[in-house]
Amino acid sequence: MSHLVVTGGNALSGEIDIEGAKNSALKLMAATVLAPGTYRLGNVPRISDVEWMGDVLAAIGSVTRWSDPTTLEVVSGEELVPEAPYELVEKMRASTALLGPLLARCGEAHIAMPGGDDFGARPINMHLSGLEALGATFELRHGTIHGRADGLIGARVVLEYPSVGATENLLLAATTASGETIIDNAAREPEIADLAAFLNRMGAKVLGAGSSTIEVEGVAELRPVSHEVVPDRIEAATYLMCVASAGGEVTLRGARDDHMAAVIRKIGEMGVRVSPDSAGLWVMASGRLRAADLSTLPYPGIATDVLPLFVAALATAEGTSYATENLFGGRFRYIGELARMGADISVDGHHLVIEGVDVLSGAKVRATDIRAGASLVVAGLGAEGDTNIYDAHHIDRGYHRLAEKLSAVGAVISRV
Ligand code: EPU
Repeated sequence: MSHLVVTGGNALSGEIDIEGAKNSALKLMAATVLAPGTYRLGNVPRISDVEWMGDVLAAIGSVTRWSDPTTLEVVSGEELVPEAPYELVEKMRASTALLGPLLARCGEAHIAMPGGDDFGARPINMHLSGLEALGATFELRHGTIHGRADGLIGARVVLEYPSVGATENLLLAATTASGETIIDNAAREPEIADLAAFLNRMGAKVLGAGSSTIEVEGVAELRPVSHEVVPDRIEAATYLMCVASAGGEVTLRGARDDHMAAVIRKIGEMGVRVSPDSAGLWVMASGRLRAADLSTLPYPGIATDVLPLFVAALATAEGTSYATENLFGGRFRYIGELARMGADISVDGHHLVIEGVDVLSGAKVRATDIRAGASLVVAGLGAEGDTNIYDAHHIDRGYHRLAEKLSAVGAVISRV
């Protein structure tokens, strides 16, 4: 299994292109289930999660192929097999995004129940109860959720938490339900607005996506379309944090500052300068970072996905930082890896106390998930000596050519 070697101490300079958002591309792929025909998704990142979602679509009867390096064509089958087996769901948790569209299109969906993962338990109760409100019924047998719907009917659903996945599933199911669906306390992430834009292009009637109340007027028919995926705010935040850790001056081409306001404000408190310009985001860092306190929240708050990146940078900031993870209780496995590099971080429940040390020292560490892996890259870029990151395949799930992109701006990083 390949690993990454990062040699710290080299400032970054140049430009990095930001890809389309993983967490939008995966849901747009799921949305193609809603109507047969050929879709063209532009600005799709070439990452393993996208390939695996392609495998899931292939299993249900659709065909995906790259028509150019960033355009994914999906031919949604005329006859679909509404089943996603355990072997695929276990690899690709976002397969649960197929529940809503399969119920809408086929009237049934049989999807292996995803288990827990490195973040802890990942329940989907809100997906199921929301779809039940639209008339679906579910039965869990032998680890598979069997869903049925004899015609979905619009309803008002108040989510108990603004879950990204539950909002998306409901939105997808509601597009062809009869009558009006209102999703209250909806997640407001830019990827949800992107999904709604895609659905509206297909002929759906969705209002308010990106706000807490989404209204969907069901339509009789949808059609395949072309669409450009929104830029990946988490990938952009990753490279922001790489510059914060290594120092230097970089432009993140295509990054959307309006999707990253909370991250930009916080990294500014840490002493990093960030400005939007016509190309994207300009970022400059020099000298030691300052400590900062932060906690994760649903969008527009600081995303849970960027906390590991902040923590890696704050590990060498001047002073003590306090960080709280409010979304996923078990998302701290990277802390032990940062400790191997000399970080002084204590964990108390879902809180972290980060005592900034002068410098981290490169060590052998292990990536436990996508963002944990990226945080070790951030740490390694500012550390003394070599950091060997094992299980780097986790990083490939969410980042296209991370090592190559960083090398091109002066980092010393290679895959072994
Ligand atoms: N939750 C429930 N019940 C549900 C659904 C969610 O209790 O039915 C809880 C979760 O356990 C969690 C919170 O609600 O505590 C938020 O979960 P959410 O549903 O919003 O997350 P998700 O849809 O499972 C997506 C991203 C994650 C990202 C989260 C939060 C995708 C494929 N995944 O997950 O991204 O961390 O939203 O923003 O879109 C990543 O990219 O590395 C990643 C993990």
